Amino acid sequence: MIAACIFDFDGVVVDTADYHYLSWKRLAAQLGFEFTEKQNEAMKGISRMDSLDVVLEIGDIKVSHKEKLKMAHVKNEWYKEYLQSVDSSVILPGVVNFLEELTAEGIPYALGSASRNAKFVMSKIGIESGFAAVFDGNDTVKSKPDPEVFLKAAAALNQEPKDVLVFEDSYKGIVAAKDGGFLACGVGEKDILHNADFTIQTFENFNLNELRFMLAQVQ
Ligand code: G6P
Ligand code: MG
Repeated sequence: MIAACIFDFDGVVVDTADYHYLSWKRLAAQLGFEFTEKQNEAMKGISRMDSLDVVLEIGDIKVSHKEKLKMAHVKNEWYKEYLQSVDSSVILPGVVNFLEELTAEGIPYALGSASRNAKFVMSKIGIESGFAAVFDGNDTVKSKPDPEVFLKAAAALNQEPKDVLVFEDSYKGIVAAKDGGFLACGVGEKDILHNADFTIQTFENFNLNELRFMLAQVQ
């Protein structure tokens, strides 16, 4: 069995990935081009500024660093607008049950997210208390696919990466987990997250027994 878990936030614990997408789509529309859901796949897990670079490249737009900072700020203001009415209904199905199971089993868990808004959203939806440690985009210098955020979380949990399972919905997040020496469970499409040790579609109908079974195949 594993000694601890680390959860990514957007797209794993909460369904806020769509709000990020809508905000980037709005920025692209303002700049005069379309930003599709397929293109958005590359944005999952990466920092705000890295995401902006992806959008600008799609639109073939070149602007100064100062202009970029303004655009990232505007996108974040829209994102926060969407978050205003956010409540526990954004927690993805099955997540709370699974966290409760971990607690009952004495397996600690931490958060490892690229988002600078993760702590704010956590406080709004009241999910903070069970997490032994929370690391987000404010605590790191390098963003995924660099493993920094997961390594910091593992250190806070006093665990070696090899004994820790990371749950991630982004390809780059799985790269970060694997490069850091962690076990990685992809949350989402197997085709996209093919670099994970194993994948689950959602936390719905997922439990510790199921996890034991999955781990037995890879450990
Ligand atoms: C998460 C999301 C990304 C987002 C990043 C930064 O990892 O998957 O899509 O760009 O966080 O979020 P922030 O809230 O700091 O803009
Ligand atoms: Mg994510």
